[in-house]
Amino acid sequence: MDLHPNEIRILKVLKEKSSTDEIAKAAQLDPDAVNRTISWLSTKGLVKLDEKVLEEVALGEEGRAYAEKGLPERRIVQLIGDGGNISNLSGRLDREEISIGLGWLRKKNLARMEDKGQIAVLNKGETEDERLLALLRDKNRVETSDLTPEQKKALDLLKSRRNVVDVLERKRVLVHPTEEGIRIGETMEVEEKISQLTPQIIRSGSWKQGSFRPYDHRIFVKPEYAAKKHPLRRLIDRISDIFIAMGFKEIKGPLIESAFWNFDALFVPQDHPARDMQDTFYLENPEEIEIPLLDEFKDRVKETHEKGWTTGSTGWGYQWSGEHCKPPLLRTHTTAVTCKYLTSLSKGDLPAKVFCIGKTFRNEAIDFKHLPEFYQVEGIVVDENANFRNLLGILDEFYREMGFKVRFRPSYYPYTEMSVDPEVYMEGKGWIELGGSGIFRPEVVKPLLGFECPVLAWGLGLDRVVALSLGLEDIRDLYISDLDWLRKSRVF
Ligand code: PHE
Repeated sequence: MDLHPNEIRILKVLKEKSSTDEIAKAAQLDPDAVNRTISWLSTKGLVKLDEKVLEEVALGEEGRAYAEKGLPERRIVQLIGDGGNISNLSGRLDREEISIGLGWLRKKNLARMEDKGQIAVLNKGETEDERLLALLRDKNRVETSDLTPEQKKALDLLKSRRNVVDVLERKRVLVHPTEEGIRIGETMEVEEKISQLTPQIIRSGSWKQGSFRPYDHRIFVKPEYAAKKHPLRRLIDRISDIFIAMGFKEIKGPLIESAFWNFDALFVPQDHPARDMQDTFYLENPEEIEIPLLDEFKDRVKETHEKGWTTGSTGWGYQWSGEHCKPPLLRTHTTAVTCKYLTSLSKGDLPAKVFCIGKTFRNEAIDFKHLPEFYQVEGIVVDENANFRNLLGILDEFYREMGFKVRFRPSYYPYTEMSVDPEVYMEGKGWIELGGSGIFRPEVVKPLLGFECPVLAWGLGLDRVVALSLGLEDIRDLYISDLDWLRKSRVF
């Protein structure tokens, strides 16, 4: 067994039964070190601890004053000798002292009160409580279990007076060596080993001669929880690493968007139910925001919605309103960011691959799988040669990197054709739907990009996969910031 030098030192001085004070003295260690070391010795089975609560008495504030000048009853007797009159006392003792003193003279049967304030002293000898008072003054502290029966009675008397004695409880630990402890104490020598490498030891080079104490990694220590990122943040960083590794560039956009960039530019008709206040959070304040590039793109978007413009589409066949595109809202998807990005591209920039991770908002009733705000990972690939199989391949690769198996289901969005919803498989949960994807329709691409080109696009919800992969059944738990859960969450 490898022991700390202090452990050996203590085992060497241990008697059959030693108090920690005795050990500290004998081993020349400070009491804290002794306490720490004996608890190690005890976990290693080398000593047994016998803890006892001791009751001790010491003088209180009043008690110290009495021990100096005498109890009030003693001072009365000193003034009147064998007897006298109360009136003789006034002026020589204060009123309170006189009344306390007279009370105790009677109680202790030391004097008798007679007519007209006459006091007859019956006993002038020192009493047991006075002797105890003196003892406490001389010894500072006395263990109550060491007192004689008479002293205990006297103590009860003193306890019944205010602030005269204090009763204190103290824990005393008696240490007994076990057989192995005795054997080690007799045979092992204290050898100074280096247990902590300090700058001094390194600088002086003394480590070259010294020997090192090995660590015992089996000993239980209190866990330390290092500061770390929130699990959700960690996964977001990981996702962005995956896309970057796949050759994508990250783009960002504002949380507050206009209906124009959130809906109109994506060929979502102005009477589409998703635009409803039931689904979308519109801002009351401000009523209007500046809409970037509106003037440049609104005519094409209007034409496309109404009659299809030059896209080959028939459009939606309704009258597009330049007012309906204006209300500011909390973006309902990050597709607002990627579609606006299309306007910045020219032919020479292709192929372009970008992604965006950000908060999105929908007017949802809150439950275990819905929150009114959640993260999406959005991405597009703008490439003349891109096709539907590439889209499936990219999503498959992304989810595989994340550790999931993916499958696709046919779907519908006003802005894509084809449209598919990827689903991932989770043990015990089955297939989970995560968002949408598809190829942007010409009605989206041509007005914004200025020419036709396949644009692969997807927008995937993040929170649910993150929650489930962290073992949370309820996505609300992601945002509760339960400290215990956060501390114990694993970094992988
Ligand atoms: N915007 C869609 C959603 O929020 C997802 C999507 C993005 C679908 C891009 C198709 C193309 O559900």
